[in-house]
Amino acid sequence: MTTRKIIMDCDPGHDDAIAIILAAVQPKLEILGITTVSGNAEIEKTTDNALKICDLVSLHDVIVSKGASEPIVRLRETAPGIHGDSGLDGPELPTPSRSWSDEHGVDTIIRLVKESKEPVTILPTGPLTNIGLALTKAPDIKDNIEEIVLMGGGTFGNWTPTAEFNIWADPEAARKVFESGIPTVVMGLDITHQALATTEVIDQVNQIDNRVSNIVGELLVFFASTYKEMFDFDGAPVHDVLTVAYLVAPELFKMKDVNIVVETKGEFTAGTTSVDLHGVTGREVNAKFGVGLDVEGFWKLMIDALKKY
Ligand code: BDR
Ligand code: CA
Repeated sequence: MTTRKIIMDCDPGHDDAIAIILAAVQPKLEILGITTVSGNAEIEKTTDNALKICDLVSLHDVIVSKGASEPIVRLRETAPGIHGDSGLDGPELPTPSRSWSDEHGVDTIIRLVKESKEPVTILPTGPLTNIGLALTKAPDIKDNIEEIVLMGGGTFGNWTPTAEFNIWADPEAARKVFESGIPTVVMGLDITHQALATTEVIDQVNQIDNRVSNIVGELLVFFASTYKEMFDFDGAPVHDVLTVAYLVAPELFKMKDVNIVVETKGEFTAGTTSVDLHGVTGREVNAKFGVGLDVEGFWKLMIDALKKY
């Protein structure tokens, strides 16, 4: 079987953590590296969280590199109201068994893409700062990037009325990605809000009752509690996990070819993705945008993966 080489660029984060847990047991995927970015919490915290999850799923040989500590232009803002102060509140996870690499996350992305004999797919599930910086520092990496499959944006917002957190946190970086010409797949709020970890889902996860599924259960309980409090949702949308699920089971997804531009100047709309769902702008298609999810199939994939631990 040919494996797809991936780099996970993330800000764990409950859903980022579950995305790593799903990816780690996929025979179709080879994780070349994990790079972190400031987003849900400050960079030291998101990197520590990534290392803790690597320990949990025995990804001992995968490089974990600390990336950008702040957005390219704007001031950093984190999301403790959603993910807690640590960025990964809920379960008690042991102190990581190793430290992050000495190499900066941006340099890790550049090196791994250049070194790979086969094209690499990048899965950004946090603000796009590292990817924006990597494309600026080494524009030639484009030639060896197969696809960018990212979580971000949507036709509505969650951090402002019109902007989603990851894009809002670093719109200049996001713009760089959408203007790069690299094939880009976008899991925005329109589709990620379909993947709700409801009480029934959490029960199914808890019934598996192994070390990893029990941690996922605790992550989901915390995540659902903040989503209830902030958005009155009956369950947490596991946004970032959809990037991994798409690579493993694209048949679960209904996608639409669209043009997406990122607003960087708006007085009230900075970080908004303008998604041209109906082709009204005449602008060229630059993304595949998630519109529909086979919800049952998605959770089956997740539950089956957790049973492997
Ligand atoms: C995104 O922001 C973070 O809270 C999540 O990890 C996800 O990547 C959703 O807007
Ligand atoms: Ca994230």
